[in-house]
Amino acid sequence: MKIDGKHYRSIWDEDQTVKIIDQRWLPHEVRIAELRDLDAFATAIRDMWVRGAPLIGATAAYGVASVMDSDASDAGLQTAYDKLLATRPTAINLKWALERCRATLQPEAPETRVEIAWKLARDICDEDVEINRKIGAHGLEIIERIAADKPAGEPVRILTHCNAGWIATVDWGTATSPIYQAADKGLDIHVWVDETRPRNQGALTAWELGSHGVAHDYITDNAGGHLMQKGLVDLVITGTDRTTAAGDVCNKIGTYLKALAAHDNGIPFYTALPSPTIDWTIRDGADIPIEMRNGDEVARIQGQGANGIETVQVTPKGTSVANPAFDVTPARLVTGLITERGVVAPGDLASLFPEHT
Ligand code: MRU
Repeated sequence: MKIDGKHYRSIWDEDQTVKIIDQRWLPHEVRIAELRDLDAFATAIRDMWVRGAPLIGATAAYGVASVMDSDASDAGLQTAYDKLLATRPTAINLKWALERCRATLQPEAPETRVEIAWKLARDICDEDVEINRKIGAHGLEIIERIAADKPAGEPVRILTHCNAGWIATVDWGTATSPIYQAADKGLDIHVWVDETRPRNQGALTAWELGSHGVAHDYITDNAGGHLMQKGLVDLVITGTDRTTAAGDVCNKIGTYLKALAAHDNGIPFYTALPSPTIDWTIRDGADIPIEMRNGDEVARIQGQGANGIETVQVTPKGTSVANPAFDVTPARLVTGLITERGVVAPGDLASLFPEHT
């Protein structure tokens, strides 16, 4: 997608150097960072310079490629795998990408691994872009159906949580891809953007939508239920960090509450996901490890101050804080999963991916 008229991906490489849009400073400043060694890749994922399940996977693949430059041995490969896997526990794309790198590289002779690893990282990025484009095309059909039933002059109102946008993937986003494709087609849409405390990923979504000219309002995380009761939400679309084989959806903390409110108000709740986000090894969402992050993310808040980006304390100093970063929405609350192969009821996910049954 575009920033100030120039097309970007969230991650790319130039001369064997990996570049990322450093998300710590968005939406206030667009800064590009370079990742050059394993420590830098691990830090970038753990400290959320890059974030969003698909982008975490793509970054890990580039991390492996970068390690192969200096140590293409079996030991080098395993060290990269172990260190990157330990960075964030919930998004399954991380493990998916690392498993794919290891399975591809291990049978190859060490002297050939560098080239193969860089190509694989680029392939994973290109595949992600294409998958998300297809998710958008399938999700667009849902929006078009809803638009057809709306009175003339009323936009389709979509609520989204967190940032499942292009900046959380390599391009397009997952939840936002149908939104961008609907906007590009000239459909009248409006997006309610959940703030998504504690890290306010909604501000990234607002930044993306604003850059693309999509009408939206940024709302507090507590506003969604009220808007639904008032008939001001036509559908919810979220992303996911890991969805089980039975369709339980793990996503950013607060997603579950939106699904409950949508269910109570008879509003369709969709989750958009690329197939690498499906964990075929588990069925029950309760088995997904939920990342507990540093309490400072809750106790403090970052924003644009008079002298640049500043962080201020929200809570009384010393307040004890808990910060679970994800929750699980049971399949029974999910209307449909929007995948690159089509839209499916959560319980029927395997029907689209028979190779996993
Ligand atoms: O902690 P984050 O910002 O990495 O969490 C991101 C999300 O929860 C997204 O909704 C999810 O990764 C889907 S991104 C296409």
